[in-house]
Amino acid sequence: MRKYVLGIETSCDDTSVAIVAQDGSVLAIKTVSQYEVHQAFGGVYPELASRAHLEAILPTIQNVMNEANVSPDDLKAIGVTRGPGLIGSLLIGLSTAQALSMGWGVPVYGINHLRGHMRSVDLEEQRTQYPAVVMLVSGGHTLVAHLSDPWSYRLLGTTRDDSVGESYDKVARMLGLGMPGGPAIDAAAKRGTPVLRLPRPMKNEGYEFSFSGLKSSVARHIEKHPEVSVDDMSASFVAACLDVLIAKAERAVIECQPKSLIIVGGVAASPQLRDGMAKLTQDHGISLCLPPIKWATDNGAMIGLATWDYIEKGIKPDLIPKPNLSLET
Ligand code: KG4
Ligand code: ZN
Repeated sequence: MRKYVLGIETSCDDTSVAIVAQDGSVLAIKTVSQYEVHQAFGGVYPELASRAHLEAILPTIQNVMNEANVSPDDLKAIGVTRGPGLIGSLLIGLSTAQALSMGWGVPVYGINHLRGHMRSVDLEEQRTQYPAVVMLVSGGHTLVAHLSDPWSYRLLGTTRDDSVGESYDKVARMLGLGMPGGPAIDAAAKRGTPVLRLPRPMKNEGYEFSFSGLKSSVARHIEKHPEVSVDDMSASFVAACLDVLIAKAERAVIECQPKSLIIVGGVAASPQLRDGMAKLTQDHGISLCLPPIKWATDNGAMIGLATWDYIEKGIKPDLIPKPNLSLET
């Protein structure tokens, strides 16, 4: 019986592979992170990312197949991220998956990374209720959409410039907190007080976001006041980001009247964001659907679960890499 999907994620700087069943259970997952490779550059260096994926991908696949005790004959399909992401990184995942598909005689699907994040919330346990409002907050994206079911969406808004995760990472770098920026800013913010006045860009306007002004304002403040407390600056920055994200989520909740609010993407690992969204959903009497922290950041399991949707919907496999893929398949 072919009951499992092999999910492969290589869109940025994590080589992550998982074996996932249709109900979202994860038989095995391995993620090889590249933090050490990119640390010296203060950000992801694309060519080194591709090389590191190439080194890690086959042993990682072998590893999860062994751990789950799954053979190619047990696989219904292979699902691999085809975008958005870094072209070189995507190509490593796509070409490896296509070669395995041919060798094993297993179909292969090119999966949208953003749809993977949206499904991350149902890994290991069905958490979502529809209709829903989904907010995706990651290193590459910031968007809010209405979902009538896991597949059908209406995009409400996205960012005009930086994503929220990107601004966490850039502010962390300015404050000398290193990589990965998100958790470091969160930890510093917990020790500090949000006493510094920072802008809340586009907070009161529709569903679009803009975070580059906030980041520049942090940079200007640090330049003028190099003695500023890292903890207070982190707390003030987090407060400004959350104010904007919560205001947009609340607007969507009021307008769309969903049963649940889904928050996904790397920044959904932030405890401050999780607490803020919990309060918002309590106030509006709807449920909050959050992935466990381990499924918020990039992983192969979410790609595996999204692959089941593609199979069920009869989507024609598309294996062309698309670095700028939006929410479409
Ligand atoms: O979803 P993700 O792993 O990759 C992309 O698809 O971009 O998100 C990575 C982003 C990074 O910007 C990272 O700083 C942020 O998620 N992040 C966090 C936390 N953990 C990761 N941001 C805030 N708090 C965290 N605990
Ligand atoms: Zn991601």
